[in-house]
Amino acid sequence: PGPTPAIGIHDLSLATGHFVLPHATLAAHNGTDVGKYHIGIGQRSMSVAAADEDIVTLGAAAAAPLIATHGSDNIRTVVFATESSIDQAKSAGVYVHSLLGLPSASRVVELKQACYAATAGLQFAIGLIRRDPTQRVLVIASDVSRYDLDSPGEATQGAAAVALLVSADPALLAVEDPSGVFTADVMDFWRPNYRTAALVDGQESITAYLQAVEGCWKDYTEQGGRDLEDFAAFCYHQPFTKMAYKAHRHLLNYTGHATDEDRAYAAIARTTAYNAVIGNSYTASVYLALAALLEGEQDLDGRPVGFLSYGSGSVAEFFAATVVPGYRDALRTQAHRAAVDGRTELDYPAYRALHTAVLPTDGGDHRIAAQTTGPFRLAALRGHKRIYETR
Ligand code: HMG
Repeated sequence: PGPTPAIGIHDLSLATGHFVLPHATLAAHNGTDVGKYHIGIGQRSMSVAAADEDIVTLGAAAAAPLIATHGSDNIRTVVFATESSIDQAKSAGVYVHSLLGLPSASRVVELKQACYAATAGLQFAIGLIRRDPTQRVLVIASDVSRYDLDSPGEATQGAAAVALLVSADPALLAVEDPSGVFTADVMDFWRPNYRTAALVDGQESITAYLQAVEGCWKDYTEQGGRDLEDFAAFCYHQPFTKMAYKAHRHLLNYTGHATDEDRAYAAIARTTAYNAVIGNSYTASVYLALAALLEGEQDLDGRPVGFLSYGSGSVAEFFAATVVPGYRDALRTQAHRAAVDGRTELDYPAYRALHTAVLPTDGGDHRIAAQTTGPFRLAALRGHKRIYETR
């Protein structure tokens, strides 16, 4: 065998919910100073899934352009990362596999560890491709983030999916070894099987995230990783965009760097454009930060980017990846901006109605009214089965 080829992200595509709720609308409803949302947590609006959208329709919408461009040959593995699962047994990825007409000679699996799981999927994909560089792996991160109405978490909801085509000789990003990894058993954020909205200890979750930043950076350096100064940019998991600033400032302090606030802000600001208007998309969030960074103005040809992927509970990973020269030719900037700009704005009563609506659980035959203008929709529930259709 010849030298190991670079392996990483060949193409990235995002999709988001049909609706959008501006934080100004939420603030007007609950009497909060909108500055708390716009500045305090760094959020402008949140995507809200239509009644006929879920992690399957969003994941399929994100992945479809990848298959349209690159075909499905040699995609022998589909990894679907989510923490808003729709079934305890069947992988959401199997529905996507079917909607996209992927080859039957493939394995499909769902991965879960809060917001972290897509990064596990990316690393597993790299391992598979290292074994056989002719194979490609489709990694889908798809989540709908829901907290209780009128809870502090409500302002950090969101909905989006990112699909990554992982391959040898990638066009966007070559992922490097080593990774720094960290796990701690904390109850900062969780969702018992009987609940549709997550439970969270907000301040504890911020502390746990920062502890994980230290933990995985420490492991990264012990594994022989790069110096902090090497990195041209950093993509953090962004439950709300201010959290990325907090995390980066924490890393600068932890590594003994003077906390030059302006420098810390400048480093992170290039990664927040999507998350600030989409909200927390859990597994997809850190890859939305990547999309914003690559689609921004900075020239990143050949430059290393640091990734900090965090999932409550908690598991985190720090890894580096080098931006492939010429990456701009492989970006989907126009389609991504159209997805975000094309959302339909909700007023507060319509948002509340969507939030409180529950799907029937009686096993009967229920059509679901068409709302989304996305390419796939949840069309019906029949005998406890979800029926999807391509629009
Ligand atoms: P809260 O209690 O509503 O807000 O909770 P706060 O009082 O902490 O204020 C937030 C910030 O706004 C503060 O800034 C205030 O000073 C500022 P900070 O001190 O943090 O820099 N503020 C203002 N700024 C300007 N003008 C004003 C104003 N008023 C206040 N008028 C919290 C906020 C994020 C905790 C809440 O929204 C929450 O519980 N969110 C959900 C949990 C979460 O997102 N945690 C993040 C870390 S855990 C994680 O990332 C994992 C996760 O994605 C899940 C997974 O892994 O699956 C959540």
